[in-house]
Amino acid sequence: MSNFPMVRMRRTRQNERLRALVRETHLSVDQFIYPLFVAEGIQEPQPISSMPGIVQWPLELLGREVERIASLGIPAVLLFGIPGEKDAVGSQAYASEGIIQQAIRLLKAQVPDVLVMTDVCLCEYTDHGHCGVIHNGTVENDESLSLLAQMALSHVEAGADLVAPSDMMDGRVGAIRHLLDEHGFQQTPIMAYSAKFASGFYGPFREAAGSTPQFGDRRSYQMDPANVREALREVDLDIAEGADVVMVKPALAYLDVIRQVREHCSLPIAAYNVSGEYSMIKAAAQQGWIDEQRIVMEVLTGIRRAGADMLITYFAPDVAQWLRE
Ligand code: PBG
Repeated sequence: MSNFPMVRMRRTRQNERLRALVRETHLSVDQFIYPLFVAEGIQEPQPISSMPGIVQWPLELLGREVERIASLGIPAVLLFGIPGEKDAVGSQAYASEGIIQQAIRLLKAQVPDVLVMTDVCLCEYTDHGHCGVIHNGTVENDESLSLLAQMALSHVEAGADLVAPSDMMDGRVGAIRHLLDEHGFQQTPIMAYSAKFASGFYGPFREAAGSTPQFGDRRSYQMDPANVREALREVDLDIAEGADVVMVKPALAYLDVIRQVREHCSLPIAAYNVSGEYSMIKAAAQQGWIDEQRIVMEVLTGIRRAGADMLITYFAPDVAQWLRE
């Protein structure tokens, strides 16, 4: 009986030093990307009611906020613009004096060391709230491509370090890569929202970005949550078109997709821990039902363990702080 149990898993769990030695997955501030909303025509930060702690920033205060992000050691921000004016073709998305183009120039001048990444999608800029242009009631793929490529180019011309197309039109990575190369921006990476699912978890974001579709939904271009083989096809296509990083979004209900993409290709993988995932934790924590810090660290570790290299999350500043303590 003395040599039973033969194997004792608890031996390496006895104290934190042993546990740290056998730990398989690590969170480091280097892996974090912080999303930021910048809105035209506001003077004060505008709280997003469904995302406690997240605001829309006026241009005037954006630099100070990104300096704070930099001081926490977070390497990158992902910018979303909320324009003063919307129209059917999202003109402000690719205007050289658009809100996002101004924000990029300001950040590259004021906080040059932080990587400025930008979301490339028309939904915040169109009056109908869809991610492409509309013809006969449907989102027109090929016509949208040239606008999306123009949008990406205008970001890169303003100084963006990386562009992240999230529109889910077919061929957009190739269209963007082609136009950037033509203008001498061969070195600018593309992070493709490759496996982007039509998800209820984007609800709070649509309040933050004012991008709710005015009719219908996004199911004719974003993916069906039921599909994983199709996600791998999306990834393959984006790689063939020139993506440098592929993304899975949302993260929590799609950990198996992250794992399969990890096994399927060798590109870096980004996972987007989206607005609804943030809001659920915030809401439960506010009720005192869960321990926020503990759950956030557990969730983000799980996303990394599934195979993500980098994490886009509204919790980035909190995590940066906790990792220091
Ligand atoms: C734009 C876009 C969305 C998100 C990122 N880029 C919204 C959508 O597709 O409806 C969602 C991010 C989040 O929920 O945090 N297309």
